[in-house]
Amino acid sequence: MSLFYRSFFAIFSLGVLLQGARGADRSSEEAEAAITGYSLPSIWQPATILPDDAEAQAKWQSISGSIPTNISGTPTGDFSDVSYPTDDPDCWWTNSKCVIPKLQGLPPDVASVPEPLTLGYGFDDGPNCSHNAFYDYLTSQDQKATMFYIGSNVMNWPLEAQRAITDGHEVCVHTWSHRYMTALASEDAFAELYYKMQAINLVTGVTPKCWRPPFGDVDDRIRAIANALDLQTVIWKYDSNDWKVGTDGVTAETVDGNYQSLVDNAENGTFSTEGAIMLTHELNNYTMATAIQWYPQLKAAFKYIVPIAVALNNTQPYVETDYPMPSFEQYISGETTITNSSDSDSTSTSISDSADTGTETQSGSASTSELKASSTSTGQASATKQNGASLVSPDIGSSFWVALAALGYLTF
Ligand SMILES: *[C@@H]1O[C@H](CO)[C@@H](O)[C@H](O)[C@H]1NC(C)=O
Ligand SMILES: *[C@@H]1O[C@H](CO)[C@@H](O)[C@H](O)[C@H]1NC(C)=O
Ligand SMILES: *[C@@H]1O[C@H](CO)[C@@H](O)[C@H](O)[C@H]1NC(C)=O
Ligand SMILES: *[C@@H]1O[C@H](CO)[C@@H](O)[C@H](O)[C@H]1NC(C)=O
Ligand SMILES: *[C@@H]1O[C@H](CO)[C@@H](O)[C@H](O)[C@H]1NC(C)=O
Ligand SMILES: *[C@@H]1O[C@H](CO)[C@@H](O)[C@H](O)[C@H]1NC(C)=O
Repeated sequence: MSLFYRSFFAIFSLGVLLQGARGADRSSEEAEAAITGYSLPSIWQPATILPDDAEAQAKWQSISGSIPTNISGTPTGDFSDVSYPTDDPDCWWTNSKCVIPKLQGLPPDVASVPEPLTLGYGFDDGPNCSHNAFYDYLTSQDQKATMFYIGSNVMNWPLEAQRAITDGHEVCVHTWSHRYMTALASEDAFAELYYKMQAINLVTGVTPKCWRPPFGDVDDRIRAIANALDLQTVIWKYDSNDWKVGTDGVTAETVDGNYQSLVDNAENGTFSTEGAIMLTHELNNYTMATAIQWYPQLKAAFKYIVPIAVALNNTQPYVETDYPMPSFEQYISGETTITNSSDSDSTSTSISDSADTGTETQSGSASTSELKASSTSTGQASATKQNGASLVSPDIGSSFWVALAALGYLTF
């Protein structure tokens, strides 16, 4: 989408939708924080299904029968007090780096990308409140990436989340509160994924179909829950350990060594039949600055650096079909974003509309695609920022958020 188109669209849509927003100022974090009236779990608290969230409860009821009950995890991915069979019956990545589920019916995790000589480029833990320098750099390189966003950060930093979409990055789910997923009861693990999907849809208008487990902590029970929510599990084979600097004896030199090792592998033919994914983070100034510092060397070592959806030829990474990504061929020929002429006619569906239920309960108009409008007047736990103000209005449709995304782009 051209800047002109974005600008036009933003102004046009805002004109229409501000009526719905009752004149609310949407141009700053502070203004957004003053808008109230929807229900999500408390930020940074482990998610649970909210007591009067009938939609979430119905969704959970519809899938719970298919979730294994004979698999249990460890509190923090630590196996020292756990007797877990060496044949790894639950395909527990934390234990064995297993990526091919043993439970029937689950697809393999994406741990590397099928395109040779290619880096599937992605960053965990955003959106970060001060990511503009990093995103500006990516834009200056016409480089798109896959952003694994934490729901709590999305609610804290909605404009930053919107920037990812308007910049042409792919957004995947990285749970609501970044817990060890195998430690959670199945219903709570569901809530960690479900409410993250709700949050990103609320703030940006898209519902991802991919997720990455925090700490890589996933087993077949958690995969089954993700799969029932139509989320593909994305993991990694290379780890920069950038997030760990300053702990466990990890230093900046360790991280440079990990980046260098990836470069060495790329240069000696390791990826000649299959590309790579490395774990890196949008976590703080150091991790983002290190990503920038190493980008030219990665660019020289790999033939292609693309978002993970692009490396998979997944041109429809979201439930909503009007946010396409380029195919691999399109991307490497320079078409790094796709203009979809139906963008301005954006529609949104709630999570419960997704393929496995086949029931379309909401569609089309800007006033019907909001989340949880009916459960918001009850005053129950809502997504509150530390300052106590919650973020988004329930009476605004998703096309408002699309417009806001465009505005977010303009105001950066
Ligand atoms: C769990 O139960 C399923 C059948 O319900 C069985 O196929 C599987 O082997 C069991 N897993 C473990 C680890 O006992
Ligand atoms: C390439 O280099 C890496 C890291 O130095 C090494 O582990 C790997 O075995 C090498 N692979 C080939 C195909 O030479
Ligand atoms: C974002 O990055 C800044 C700057 O490095 C850091 O101070 C802050 O803690 C980060 N915020 C989050 C939410 O990770
Ligand atoms: C890191 O912080 C410095 C100093 O504030 C700033 O100039 C730089 O742009 C930041 N880098 C990134 C990637 O955010
Ligand atoms: C992506 O599509 C291109 C063109 O159709 C094809 O050559 C390539 O093998 C596909 N890659 C994957 C990973 O599907
Ligand atoms: C554009 O969006 C429509 C639906 O909104 C979809 O059917 C179509 O495939 C999209 N176009 C491209 C090029 O992906």
